[in-house]
Amino acid sequence: MSTLLRLDKFLADVGIGTRTQVKQMIRKGQIQVNGIVIKKPEYKIDTQKDRVAASGEELSYQKYRYFMLHKPAGCVCATEDRKEKTVLSLVPEEYRKDLFPVGRLDKDTEGLLLLTNDGDLAHRLLAPKKHVDKTYYAKIEGQVTEQDVEAFREGIDIGDDKLTMPAVLEILHSSDISEIQVTIQEGRFHQIKRMFEAVGKKVLYLKRLTMGPLHLDPLLGPGEIRPLTEEEVKALCERK
Ligand code: URA
Repeated sequence: MSTLLRLDKFLADVGIGTRTQVKQMIRKGQIQVNGIVIKKPEYKIDTQKDRVAASGEELSYQKYRYFMLHKPAGCVCATEDRKEKTVLSLVPEEYRKDLFPVGRLDKDTEGLLLLTNDGDLAHRLLAPKKHVDKTYYAKIEGQVTEQDVEAFREGIDIGDDKLTMPAVLEILHSSDISEIQVTIQEGRFHQIKRMFEAVGKKVLYLKRLTMGPLHLDPLLGPGEIRPLTEEEVKALCERK
């Protein structure tokens, strides 16, 4: 679909700079539209037809942007916060515009977090009826048992109106401090911590490994971010 956009908005959306930075680039004559230098930030661009280049390099317009962040502990899943460091602060400034985290991980939870400006996709991934699988690795205080596995499979009363939906709990190591992997289909507030509390145990460490078709990239260290690959975007968008 072709859209008309101001040149400065087009450039900021592409991610080559903030709105102020791209205005400076335009004024300095660094931006060409269809081979002609344009010095007006308000110049209208047809996103389908016009060829826009910055310092001779052609730019392709993408309405939606998708990033995978390896969320570290200690920051909150919000776009702004007066007191806490946010996940958005880990995104390079030129890519931040309109981005938001898809769902929330607790401040002390690490792992896979999707950031996008695509509201429809976020809605589809978060809608309770869509049952998007999310897998977590956790360290648990106390011995996790087969009874816990059964309780997780059957659904647990965590104090909400309804029991939790069936969750797959896999014991990796059972001891005073156990290691587990758990897959849930919902995203209730503090869900995993509350599920373990309900069976008398405490989550000591929590890390999200997957969300739907997305897997946390093992090459991303805590606090690192990368754009999703085309295949990852396709896999996400193909979900109904
Ligand atoms: N469950 C939790 O308890 N915390 C999270 O951050 C995610 C799932």
